[in-house]
Amino acid sequence: MIETADRIIEIKEYYFSKKLEEVKSLDNSDFPIINLGIGSPDLAPHDKVIQALKTYASKPDLHAYQSYRGIPELRNAIADYYSQYFEVKLDANREILPLVGSKEGIMHITQAFVNPGDEVFIPNPGYPTYAAVTKLAQAKIRFYDLKEENNWQLDIESLEKMDLSRVKLFWLNSPHMPTGVQYATEDLHKLVGLAEKYQFLIINDNPYSMILNMHYQSILSIEGASEVAIELNSLSKSHNMAGWRLGWCSGRAEFINAIVKVKSNMDSGMFKPLQLAAAEALKLGSDWFENLNSVYKQRRVLAEKVLQKLGCSFDANQQGLFIWAKLPSNISDCEKWVDHLLYEYHLFLSPGFIFGTQGQDYVRISLCAKEEQFEIALNRLETYQS
Ligand SMILES: Cc1ncc(COP(=O)(O)O)c(C=O)c1O
Repeated sequence: MIETADRIIEIKEYYFSKKLEEVKSLDNSDFPIINLGIGSPDLAPHDKVIQALKTYASKPDLHAYQSYRGIPELRNAIADYYSQYFEVKLDANREILPLVGSKEGIMHITQAFVNPGDEVFIPNPGYPTYAAVTKLAQAKIRFYDLKEENNWQLDIESLEKMDLSRVKLFWLNSPHMPTGVQYATEDLHKLVGLAEKYQFLIINDNPYSMILNMHYQSILSIEGASEVAIELNSLSKSHNMAGWRLGWCSGRAEFINAIVKVKSNMDSGMFKPLQLAAAEALKLGSDWFENLNSVYKQRRVLAEKVLQKLGCSFDANQQGLFIWAKLPSNISDCEKWVDHLLYEYHLFLSPGFIFGTQGQDYVRISLCAKEEQFEIALNRLETYQS
């Protein structure tokens, strides 16, 4: 048997890549699965966006390879979007790089900035891809713990006491998935100060910026951040376009140029009609977000009822597409409990341990399901005893 490379020994296939196959295998028309596990928006993009894709895709001259740096129409739309919602001015020609989803950027940025052995700070709990990609780069993971008793906020005081001299990259994710908190602006200022002092790069992964969030925030709006930070963002959650694979990163031109060195050797520019339709999406007015969030607000009420029925406790003011909830005290094995709900009630929730050791007593429920689905889940749980 031909052996695989050492760099993949320590990583596992992405949890959902495997688990969703298992979930799918249990689905049947008599007892359908209610999937409240993943954050893949079930709602459609705006009609204008779909129409734009159809119109442009039907033109015969838009099917060639595209620029590695994305088309100017999309970069300009991103710059306008950042100016309108985040009060951040970006140079559309030099400071924005469209990506095939922000997940792609996590790999490219790591390849562009991290040497084997460099230290990379990763939130625990946090999006699992940061750690997997760091392992692929053969760099050293240092987790920073987020704790419920600190309202899941950054613990700047602890960070200040740590040896940060070998840190190269600091993964930040505000609003944070899975806990649903947005970090205090004051702490972001302090973090930028630490990055300036120790010369590490902060990457704020910001795909939940527009969901159930009244205060749109970009790390790039923090004074001094443009020297030490890059931001990832995406149309997946904000515009119901997860399957389109459209995201971007923004930051100073030198950072973008380094990422282009990696990206341009890995793929070519995205299909032009997709990019043009994405530009239309970014031009939608704020009523798009008002309508979207009014749907998520209604769903959240039902999701809270599901969690209450299950005996979980949670903070009702979370942002983003999920509610992060603490397991009832009599549940000690989260994985077993989640599988019990899956096999007995055909109800799938994400176990918190997949986001790190700090998540092992928690569960994450997604708002990406129709209200009827939550109602069915509640009916099924009528007899449930926690
Ligand atoms: C925190 C976080 N970052 C990045 C991503 C990837 O998003 P995209 O669809 O833009 O690749 C996700 C997707 O769930 C996420 O939760």
